Amino acid sequence: MDQVLALMREAASRMTGAACPAVSRKGRGNFVTQADLAVQEFLRGALQERFPDYGFFSEEQENQADFSRPVWILDPIDGTANFVAGYGHSAISLALYQEGAVSFGAVYNPFSGEMFHAGRGKGAFCNGAPIRAEHGAALPDALIELGTMPYYKDRAAEVGRLTEELLLAAGDIRRGGSAALAFCYTAAGRTGAMLEGLLQPWDYAAGLLIAEEAGAETGDWAGRPLDPRKPSAVLAADKRIFAEVLAIIQKIRKE
Ligand code: IPD
Repeated sequence: MDQVLALMREAASRMTGAACPAVSRKGRGNFVTQADLAVQEFLRGALQERFPDYGFFSEEQENQADFSRPVWILDPIDGTANFVAGYGHSAISLALYQEGAVSFGAVYNPFSGEMFHAGRGKGAFCNGAPIRAEHGAALPDALIELGTMPYYKDRAAEVGRLTEELLLAAGDIRRGGSAALAFCYTAAGRTGAMLEGLLQPWDYAAGLLIAEEAGAETGDWAGRPLDPRKPSAVLAADKRIFAEVLAIIQKIRKE
């Protein structure tokens, strides 16, 4: 899959080239930029040329994926609001789903130069070095990344309660603005857990495999295994923290 990582680096020149991204709006705070479309079109063309039998399922296109054959799942820019604001924390997220699971995932942040990737059964890596989901701190000292579901303002009160309970239980809260990178930061042990109440397949398919291959425990907000073909609530955590964070989620969901 080295050739796919090289294509992602090449695609990213379409993100870093434009000083002031051309933007249109899908909803409040929900943008699509020319760079999203340029990254998507470049990768779709390049992957179809090299893997003509594989399907393609991407954020910025109308699509229904046929998962009976291998399918690429792409978010051309995860963390689009960051990208529009010049925040420097956005990534291309690409996964390959085949035979009932994600077999390959990569998340590339051209602003930091970090390429995270994993192959099923082959471990997880950042710029080629192995990573482990070992935060090195128990929950009272841990950093927890909470995604705020920015496109679902009707769930803002739930995010507020989670913030309060997690802040009381943990060391501190983080909110980076890219779900794909949030998975990778937990995979690299930079955070003890990441969670968000609703993500789309392209937001989390690649990050999920990277976190799992790094040894993280993952699940939906009922603790069930995730199906990366479907939108879902997600939790990924250092194994020593997972159950405690899940218990906090479940307490709030019952309120
Ligand atoms: C969003 C980001 C954000 C998360 C949202 C996602 P986008 O993806 O990952 O961190 O909170 O739920 O939709 O729209 O920037 O590709």
